[in-house]
Amino acid sequence: MKVTVVGAGAVGASCAEYIAMKNFASEVVLVDIKEGFAEGKAMDLMQTASLNGFDTKVTGTTADYSKTAGSKVAVITSGIPRKPGMTREELIGINAGIVKEVTENLVKHSPDVIIIVVSNPMDTMAYLVHKTSGLAKNKIIGMGGALDSARFKYRLAEALECPISDVDGMVIAAHSDTGMLPLMSKATRNGVPVTEFLDAEKQAYVEEETKVGGATLTKLLGTSAWYAPGAAVSVMVQSILCDHKKMIPCSLMLDGEYGESDICLGVPAIIGKDGVEKIVEISLTDAEKEKFATAAKAVREVNGDLKF
Ligand code: NAI
Repeated sequence: MKVTVVGAGAVGASCAEYIAMKNFASEVVLVDIKEGFAEGKAMDLMQTASLNGFDTKVTGTTADYSKTAGSKVAVITSGIPRKPGMTREELIGINAGIVKEVTENLVKHSPDVIIIVVSNPMDTMAYLVHKTSGLAKNKIIGMGGALDSARFKYRLAEALECPISDVDGMVIAAHSDTGMLPLMSKATRNGVPVTEFLDAEKQAYVEEETKVGGATLTKLLGTSAWYAPGAAVSVMVQSILCDHKKMIPCSLMLDGEYGESDICLGVPAIIGKDGVEKIVEISLTDAEKEKFATAAKAVREVNGDLKF
């Protein structure tokens, strides 16, 4: 099955690399507006095939969307990333135009495509794709929770001084520094609630470091991260192509779930061959419900800046 990745920059190239290396897709088509860039990245990746042992064909095009025809999944990473000190929300002006145009081109050539939205501000960009693409609700998935949950697990393992594979945890709500909601009440170490091991101060440290995880890396790197975002997307694409039906927190259009409607926010969902197969409603504490509602209010305000 064919996967298209639009934007062959840091995140797009990382996505393509992980997808190719995991060998579950027949072809990955990289698309970029910069002349020759996607072709070059694709050729470089293909020259790793014999070294890394994969058979996925990676091709690139300078925005010739006929090459993307028949894609099962398309990942939108095109747009500008933030610089140190910027919020994701500040990217809306440029990225909304890019995401809308890219979506139109993708749907024209792959009317049944499942779109994974990565470009920031992601919850708002996912909402834009819902409002402009004409695709069914289950076919539009925002990537944020998979990455933020991985960052949460990294910080949990650090605080608990244990291997990352011992911990489990999930981040829901908005993909923003203030709107992220790491669910400490549900996080576990080998099945035991982490609240039994971490005092309030350590819990607050983990929550805060998770929420500013992207900003911390942007400060260190001078631009936003790419390895973990690419890996997070690859897990989502694999769950669709291989019908793994994994439960992954994703930014999805809500219709009453978690008390919200007409907004894309991060919630756990079963991701399989049809895209979003089911939104899973987990019980939240009163404090978590309040934080979820506050995050929704902030995302709604950003959505208000969209011009369709
Ligand atoms: P980048 O600047 O390295 O790559 C973006 C690429 O998009 C560039 O190569 C550019 O030429 C291309 N592009 C721009 N307009 C285009 C168009 N109309 N058609 C095709 N290609 C086009 O940026 P990076 O670091 O890869 O980030 C991409 C986006 O992903 C940013 O908006 C960033 O904020 C977001 N991001 C989202 C994450 C998430 O968790 N949702 C995590 C990390 C980044």
